[in-house]
Amino acid sequence: MMDLGEARSHAGEDAIMMGGGNPSHIATVQEIWRDRLQALISPPFEIDSVLVDYDGPAGNPRFLEAIAAFFKREFAWNISSKNVAVSNGGQTAFFFLHNLLAGRRDDGSESHILLPLMPEYIGYADQSIGSNLFVANRPKIELIGEHQFKYHINFDTLNITDQTAAVCVSRPTNPSSNVLTDDEIAHLSDLTREAGIPLIIDNAYGAPFPGVIFEEVKPIWDEHIILTLSLSKLGLPGTRTGIVIAREDIIEDFTTMTAIIGLANSNVGQAIVTPLLESGEILSISQDLIRPFYEKRAHQAEQFLNEYLPADLPWRVHKSEGAFFLWIWFANFPITSKELYRRLKDRKTFIIPGEYFFYGLETEDWPHSRECIRLSFTQPEAVLEKGIRILGEEVRRAYEGG
Ligand SMILES: Cc1ncc(COP(=O)(O)O)c(C=O)c1O
Repeated sequence: MMDLGEARSHAGEDAIMMGGGNPSHIATVQEIWRDRLQALISPPFEIDSVLVDYDGPAGNPRFLEAIAAFFKREFAWNISSKNVAVSNGGQTAFFFLHNLLAGRRDDGSESHILLPLMPEYIGYADQSIGSNLFVANRPKIELIGEHQFKYHINFDTLNITDQTAAVCVSRPTNPSSNVLTDDEIAHLSDLTREAGIPLIIDNAYGAPFPGVIFEEVKPIWDEHIILTLSLSKLGLPGTRTGIVIAREDIIEDFTTMTAIIGLANSNVGQAIVTPLLESGEILSISQDLIRPFYEKRAHQAEQFLNEYLPADLPWRVHKSEGAFFLWIWFANFPITSKELYRRLKDRKTFIIPGEYFFYGLETEDWPHSRECIRLSFTQPEAVLEKGIRILGEEVRRAYEGG
């Protein structure tokens, strides 16, 4: 990850960056943020309170109310502002939740977070303040046509035990872009409700906002579900705003952690977005501007793959269902994805080797975990085309023993 951060400065401005998770600069959306900032600095100078006043540790009261009212109105969820808390980004929310729910118990035993579908978001992997927090489950792999595949949860091997403190999924999943079906989510919800543990759903890319999701799915919430959202993939990662919707006792514990660790949260993002939640405009921004932009970009990137990756070789791309990435699998690859990363880096082309997204698995070797890469398609199309052409050349070379 450090490598990625430093990549551009080392490789220069012509580096082809297909590694990171930065959102695209969408002109129509950026205009909305600029208009909102303009409104904040104009009379009656709402910005003064935003800059000068600390919010309480749960978040800005008007924002919390706007979130609760939005989900009540749009999805008839039975929640109030007491079911909502803000964090300094979704990443921080996960650090709090994972360590709050799992780890060493009073009796000395350890509890874990169960990840039902590996590969899963790299950002959870090192979040434990104690011992390893995660136990993961291998998926079933559905092969689709010559060059596509899709993961499904393998419920036959999913094992909720007395040590399982919570189940956690990202939907869409970073890195694979897999979107768990409504049936899979309903099944997970039933299992966790029966076990009396929370189901955490990481909605960083999903519905109803930011809407970087290409499948029609139904957002759900229930007393045992902890739903996290973020303003980052709307195009506001710099405001560091995460949102948690959960049972009141969980929100109280979460808010206490904010108070202890950070006192209060960054409030600029909340101020920018509040009126858009109140009016419902956040929905049209997500559905009419953000989703079509990324869906088109994803299709374009897939076309480049079909054009530049050799058709006679056994590569497959995960069905593109959301988020910012294509997840490509090179079956029976003669080199590891880390070695492919190094070869691409020598050509100033950056992707993320898939190895990092497989963690919490039993030790039994699984070659698939060394045969995948994550490629971000948020860069302009010309950059993507060049990068995928170079990828095609290196993949051919590797399969031919070079
Ligand atoms: C699946 C997922 N969850 C959470 C996050 C955290 O995002 P943020 O802290 O910017 O809200 C990310 C960021 O890329 C992500 O991909």
